[in-house]
Amino acid sequence: MKTPTPQVEIAGTGRFLPPNVVTNDDLAERMDTTDEWIRTRTGIRERRIGDPSLLAAEMGRESGRKAMESAGVEPGEVDIVIVSTATPDRWLPSTACDVQTLLGCDNALAFDIQAACSGWLYGLTMAEGFLAAGRGEVALVVATEKMSNILDWEDRATCVLFGDGSGAAVLKPSDGERGILSAHHRSDGSLAELLYRPAGGVRMPLDAQVVGEREHLMKMSGREIFKNAVRSMAEACDQAMQQAGLTGDDIDLMIPHQANIRIIEATAKYAGLPMEKVYVNVDRYGNMSSASIPVALDEAIEEGRVRPGMNILSSTFGAGLTWGATVWRT
Ligand code: UT7
Repeated sequence: MKTPTPQVEIAGTGRFLPPNVVTNDDLAERMDTTDEWIRTRTGIRERRIGDPSLLAAEMGRESGRKAMESAGVEPGEVDIVIVSTATPDRWLPSTACDVQTLLGCDNALAFDIQAACSGWLYGLTMAEGFLAAGRGEVALVVATEKMSNILDWEDRATCVLFGDGSGAAVLKPSDGERGILSAHHRSDGSLAELLYRPAGGVRMPLDAQVVGEREHLMKMSGREIFKNAVRSMAEACDQAMQQAGLTGDDIDLMIPHQANIRIIEATAKYAGLPMEKVYVNVDRYGNMSSASIPVALDEAIEEGRVRPGMNILSSTFGAGLTWGATVWRT
């Protein structure tokens, strides 16, 4: 397939990580786990855990502000604010409306998307469509995840894997050289209960009993998720590279979702990429759900690993199930 002409580009990025570092040894003091178990199964060494009162919207304000600064965009110029979060500050209205207000993006429409770990890549595609259709000139796509508030800290198989953080990007119409080349996204709701929060919605409203039984907290079938993640991310990478008219040899850097180093290595191997071409920060932050990719992207740019003319591949996987991959040229 011929490489398409990009219509929309990433013009700036930003990130926010709460300063409080929690190491595996810190967790081992609170629960029956070890640094060795966590490191060898996942590659995670430490994660950031925000103060319980820190809001997802406040983290989103910080990453969003930095993304606007790096793109040279004023708040009033933003036409659309999309916020991806699995940890909204409240059920109604959206966290995006809070982020919009905190940032002063007074001329924008704002809404949340809930696609778990895949949310930021989904958001990128939605913003791309909005701009490509001529509905606006500037989009802000924020992922903000306060995972520590929805984890069950008595479930050692799950709580050691996640951390808090936020990442964001500003999108603008492309000059035809730089920008998004392809995107492939899918969902499979039949596997929803592999990773979910049973209570808190219409299906199982909150009451003292469900809270006592910890049904409002996140539950995960880790082994099943692992198998699906490897298969789906590989398929998504294939599809996105094919749509972009590229092969693994043409990809200069892969910035995957950071859930587990073993999933990242399997995805890179399938796409034909050596690990030198893969950006990894799961060791420092754990899985920050949809914030993982934009945080990694912002760090990769800061470290000089993203240079003009590169082809970047990002792939993701999460609750839903949801998954996808995107290729863009810098
Ligand atoms: O963004 C997508 C979100 N989720 C993911 O990406 C997670 C995908 N899954 C995974 O990363 C892996 O499946 C895990 C890291 C969650 C687990 O790794 P595993 O190699 O599949 O381990 P396992 O589930 O087979 O558990 C092995 C053992 C069990 O003990 P027994 O039954 O074999 O005696 C667990 O009880 O490890 C035990 N275990 C722990 N031991 C120490 C589970 N959690 C811990 C822990 N510390 N924190």
